[in-house]
Amino acid sequence: MTQAPRIAAPADLVLAWYDRHHRDLPWRVSPPMAARGERPDPYRIWLSEVMLQQTTVQAVKAYFALFTSRWPTVTDLARAETEDVMKSWAGLGYYARARNLKKCAEAVAFEHGGVFPDSEDGLKALPGIGDYTAAAIAAIAFNRRSAVLDGNVERVISRLHAIETPLPAAKPEMRALVAAMTPADRPGDFAQAMMDLGATICTPRRPACALCPLNAACRVLGREDPELYPRKAAKKAKPVRLGAAFVAEDETGAIFLRKRGETGLLGGMTEVPGSGWTARIDGETGPAAAPFAADWQACGTVTHVFTHFELRLSIYRSTVPHHVQAGDGWWQAKETLDGEALPTVMKKAIRQAIPDAFSRR
Ligand code: ADE
Repeated sequence: MTQAPRIAAPADLVLAWYDRHHRDLPWRVSPPMAARGERPDPYRIWLSEVMLQQTTVQAVKAYFALFTSRWPTVTDLARAETEDVMKSWAGLGYYARARNLKKCAEAVAFEHGGVFPDSEDGLKALPGIGDYTAAAIAAIAFNRRSAVLDGNVERVISRLHAIETPLPAAKPEMRALVAAMTPADRPGDFAQAMMDLGATICTPRRPACALCPLNAACRVLGREDPELYPRKAAKKAKPVRLGAAFVAEDETGAIFLRKRGETGLLGGMTEVPGSGWTARIDGETGPAAAPFAADWQACGTVTHVFTHFELRLSIYRSTVPHHVQAGDGWWQAKETLDGEALPTVMKKAIRQAIPDAFSRR
């Protein structure tokens, strides 16, 4: 009797592809490392997943190296000064993540004896850990059979199954399909494999379908342009807000800075003084919003796109003869600006006023 050829399950095809083509990432225990007996460190997995939310692997690598060298364990991070954590996070964006990172480290270190919970529910109870992050840590750090759905996996699944429902409404359907596909054996590698597949093969533009381990099963390939998936609800144009920012330099080359309030957008980060950011085009964006009287010179506009609005900041600069003081701001030597908790929008504002502000060493 002849045996029917065994058709490999999609998860097996994905895992076999991962064994050959996985990316080597600083936090990852790759299949060859696992074969040598290495096990993932939940602290490093958690840190990488929080950093990777809304941020590319390439941008995260340097921050991950900095954090893990300064704070090698979750207890080290829990004992760090919040101010130092915010400074080290500066430039990664979405600063609520950094505040929650510190709170989460404290919870793990001081309430869980320095050991991360090993279930999705236990992880979700920690500050800053939502559905995605809990599933990713449970799968990758603890080899739990969790369905991990990030933007990369959404793209793979939407094409594999030709899902017509637009995002974000399609998420529950996609999560159920990923759950059904996730194997009991190696669920952590499977989750990482699907992310790598989405990042390197099943890309938003010009996917490399010829190299894809799932191409024979893909419902879109050969029928429609894969780039049309995932379907997305029409995007609303972002509202525009206006504001002014004031870059004052004194005769020693120091710049006047202040700290933003602890809550709200960029809470607790450092800024140059400015007006509020208003949706009203007749809002105050001129020199009258300055922190102190000086010869303010207009020097152009900086645009920065946040999640919910686009900010257009009018930039003014002045050279102030003495150490003028306003509120609880301070003067910071330009050579030491890199160590400040300056978000990208503030670095742009300073650079607009003083193009070489960050290059004097
Ligand atoms: N993006 C988010 N988490 C990731 C991971 N663990 N591997 C690859 N890409 C990712």
